[in-house]
Amino acid sequence: MIPEKAPEKDCNLCPRLEGFRAENRGKFPDKFNAPVPSFGPKTAELLIVGLAPGLKGANFSGRPFTGDYAGDLLYATLLKFGFAQGNYEARADDGLELKNCRITNAVRCVPPENKPITEEMNTCRPFLVDEIETMENLKTILSLGLISHNAVVKTFGQKISAHKFAHGAMHDMGGITLIDSYHCSRYNTNTKRLTTEMFEDVFEKINEHMRG
Ligand code: URA
Repeated sequence: MIPEKAPEKDCNLCPRLEGFRAENRGKFPDKFNAPVPSFGPKTAELLIVGLAPGLKGANFSGRPFTGDYAGDLLYATLLKFGFAQGNYEARADDGLELKNCRITNAVRCVPPENKPITEEMNTCRPFLVDEIETMENLKTILSLGLISHNAVVKTFGQKISAHKFAHGAMHDMGGITLIDSYHCSRYNTNTKRLTTEMFEDVFEKINEHMRG
């Protein structure tokens, strides 16, 4: 087993996020309210990188995207494409298993208004670096949204100007392929910036790439 470098339950690296966590622990004492660990086997070839836990979703459940609106489309798609097995019931104990796929977030703690600031992105990046470095079979990274894309490109020490975010675009990260998708957020799906078909097209590409 590769030891995972993950933030402590009471991580105090980001004062604003620590303060927000304390507030939420007061308001919702029976919820998870801590940095949300990655989910899925470390041996996976595919890593999905989201932005940050949603307040009443991943921050409550303790599992990325679980209970968040964005999780409905994400987990349905993972089940359809064989990257998950079981039933997604929006609870961390629903027994859902990821197959050859792992999910993490660019920022592990819930940010106020769902918006991490640049400093928090930078402070949390070492955990993403470690996540990527310790996934020995990693072939493909799916970034959900521009902010996640930028975090991944920086993780590889590459220039953002050389890798423009675009839905469905593929970028070479020195042997590992980064694929972009619009984030499967409620806003993006409601406004049709991202449709189910567009999201599934990205997974078709991922499957083709991973088979090739
Ligand atoms: N929930 C997460 O865990 N990550 C996101 O990016 C959005 C919702």
